[in-house]
Amino acid sequence: MQQNNYHCLKEASKSYWLASVDHTGYPALENDIKVDVAIVGGGIAGLSCAYRLTKEGVKTAVIEADKIFFGTTGHTTAKITSQHELIYDKTKNNIGPEMAQQYANANEAAIKTIENTISELKIQCDFEHQSAYVYTQKDENIQKINNEVKTAIELGIKATYVEKIPFNIPIKAAVRFDNQAQFHPGKYLLALAKQITDKGNHIFEHSKVVDMEEKGAYILTTDRGIKVTAEKVIIASHYPFFNKAGLYFARISAERSYIVAVKAEEKYPGGMYINAEDPSRSLRRQSDQNGELILVGGERHKTGQSEDTIRHYEALIDFSNQLFAVKSIPFHWSAQDCMTLDGIPYVGHYTSDTPNLYIATGFGKWGMTNSTVSAAILTDLIVRGESPWSDVYNPSRFTITASMKNLLVENANVAANLVQGKLSLQHDDVEISSGQGKVINVDGHRAGAYRDAKGELHIVDTTCTHMGCELNWNMAEKSWDCPCHGSRFSVDGEVIEGPAIRPLNVGKSVNTIEKLVKDEF
Ligand code: FES
Repeated sequence: MQQNNYHCLKEASKSYWLASVDHTGYPALENDIKVDVAIVGGGIAGLSCAYRLTKEGVKTAVIEADKIFFGTTGHTTAKITSQHELIYDKTKNNIGPEMAQQYANANEAAIKTIENTISELKIQCDFEHQSAYVYTQKDENIQKINNEVKTAIELGIKATYVEKIPFNIPIKAAVRFDNQAQFHPGKYLLALAKQITDKGNHIFEHSKVVDMEEKGAYILTTDRGIKVTAEKVIIASHYPFFNKAGLYFARISAERSYIVAVKAEEKYPGGMYINAEDPSRSLRRQSDQNGELILVGGERHKTGQSEDTIRHYEALIDFSNQLFAVKSIPFHWSAQDCMTLDGIPYVGHYTSDTPNLYIATGFGKWGMTNSTVSAAILTDLIVRGESPWSDVYNPSRFTITASMKNLLVENANVAANLVQGKLSLQHDDVEISSGQGKVINVDGHRAGAYRDAKGELHIVDTTCTHMGCELNWNMAEKSWDCPCHGSRFSVDGEVIEGPAIRPLNVGKSVNTIEKLVKDEF
């Protein structure tokens, strides 16, 4: 039966990757410990770093606020590719051919690294070689595709200009990279995690780092007051929680995107696809127990800045129906990505004067290879003091001509959202039905109200605990999302995504608010 709209979807959003692996049960940190390298964050970046450092004999601990693999890595499209939209020609023009070459070398090497690791550890993770395509449907982008093919070939990548892809999509041109790949990221990462702990290193889950100070060594403090002392620290927590250096909040933006996993009558023709324009569209297949799922993704937008998040799923369902005879949509989910000013991640020393503090973030939508690159760069910097790819990824790079305009735009956007949120229209007399959330006015203060399936109201103060922007309601995921730097909170105010560390205030009197909310029951 054809799935026509979001309301045909039977369940709340759930990632296929998370639903198809065993859940981990690593312990929470209960006692103070001392390690060589503490790694904050248990996604693919943190675990890849820990795996490589473990192989080098470095004593490490991964400290994860939730469960490993549960964040962005558990919600990715999991394409293993050096084709990151049209990045090479742009990078060559913005920061020079040497930097474009480093980026190409690093990401081509990452594909091989992942493949070799899978082979060495005999990981059953649905790894498949595929070609990757970026296509355009616009005449004005044909030249960009041409330029990308030319630059990629100059950089040693096997790139081809093509005018057809095997879908009912009228394209103008596309660039194809051969020998790319895809896999199941959960199966891969759980195998790496096992290696890390089997070799005597640590993974701690449900242990949120809330503070860090340097006293010779770094001392990290968790939300339960337990201390980790480490000579060196890698922050791989997606959006960095540490605001005291680096000004990362001024140079990373957060974007959300969506995936529907489709069962279709047709067999998927192969390949991984993304378009060069908005609205974004992405395609790949994934084997499952009963055949295959087709992962249809896209609809990116800045976190907290979409008025109707459900329409993004609806747009992808429409797109799926145009391409396939859709039988069912067993999974749908959304992801959050950190975007940098120039499109290249920040990997290396946190700042130029923090020799023992490192960061890996800002992978855009390309976290599989860029995380693997991060692990190589950071392991090289920590163990050998240098990396052949550290310049292009250097978080302190001063590529002002390329990035300053984006910096100004980014921060104007944050400022606008800060002001707009404070001034936004308040709804004194609102109706909130079951499953809905709204911004309401409580004694002149902006608050967020959500009514659950049992009819109970959940009230939060909508002021973000990171830097004070006002949150907006995300109906599709039932969360309060920050338009400034992308923090997200549950209906009860718990942090879902940083950089915020502290939960929302929930101190409003529910009785007071009940008077303001016209109950539909
Ligand atoms: Fe920075 Fe909300 S995430 S103010």
